[in-house]
Amino acid sequence: MDFVKVKREENGVAVLTIDRQDKLNALDPQVVEEIGQSLLELEGEGPRAIIVTGAGERAFVAGADIAAMNSMTPMEAKRFAELGHAALALLDRSPVPTIAAVNGFAFGGGCEIALACDIRVASENALFGFPEVGLGILPGMGGTQRAPRLLGPAVAKELIFTGRRIDANEAHRIGLVNRVVPQGEALSSAKEIATEIAANGPLAVRHAKAAANRAHDVDIISGLEYEADQFALLFSTDDAREGMGAFVEKREAAFEGR
Ligand code: COA
Repeated sequence: MDFVKVKREENGVAVLTIDRQDKLNALDPQVVEEIGQSLLELEGEGPRAIIVTGAGERAFVAGADIAAMNSMTPMEAKRFAELGHAALALLDRSPVPTIAAVNGFAFGGGCEIALACDIRVASENALFGFPEVGLGILPGMGGTQRAPRLLGPAVAKELIFTGRRIDANEAHRIGLVNRVVPQGEALSSAKEIATEIAANGPLAVRHAKAAANRAHDVDIISGLEYEADQFALLFSTDDAREGMGAFVEKREAAFEGR
């Protein structure tokens, strides 16, 4: 891999870093392909959580590569959008929690990567926005779908139609990020959250994510049915016996993911 590095931490947390610093980590087709491939590889390894961040001090990801897109035919653009959708679905639909550590510019595709994660942490110097309409195009890596779902249609449409940049505090106010931390601390803050998650029953967390993902996919009756089924399924695991048993016996639980 030329532009994506994956580091596996001891507690099962994986950190995926997009590293194309001379272009502020902009996404050309190769970068997107490498993100998808890295996430597929990670999925087979069963990490406890995945953090996505950008290399360097300035950018998370400054968007899709405008120079590369400038020469695309419509069919190449379609393929690029589909490549992006497939890669970002691996975050959204990953069986484990995904956290974006937004350490700087998160424009266009960068904002869309962050939106595809379950949780977003931003450093106070981070900037967000969808500049696409100013380029004569639109957000093509899921922004028109995920932003309205997360932020509500009115707030998302204002951002998408104006192309305005917003800072980390504004992003926090509108619910785009979970928390804002001092510059340089986005990754360590994301690791803290991942460590908290990794201390819990891994099967419980996976099934909880699957159930929570249903919340915007299906009607509430079907969602509640799914929740009840997942709830029941967990009662067949050693982890549930261990977790509840440890509480009753007043000791720490030792989960084995079984
Ligand atoms: N696509 C391709 N290249 C990009 C890029 C992108 N989205 N964002 C930054 N770069 C490149 C610049 O072209 C420049 O390359 P060069 O040194 O070979 O000329 C390099 O990254 C550094 O960027 P530069 O513009 O010089 O830095 P800056 O600090 O002046 O500005 C930004 C930073 C992020 C404000 C500015 O780069 C920008 O507006 N980028 C585009 C953001 C955007 O519209 N993204 C959505 C795309 S759909």
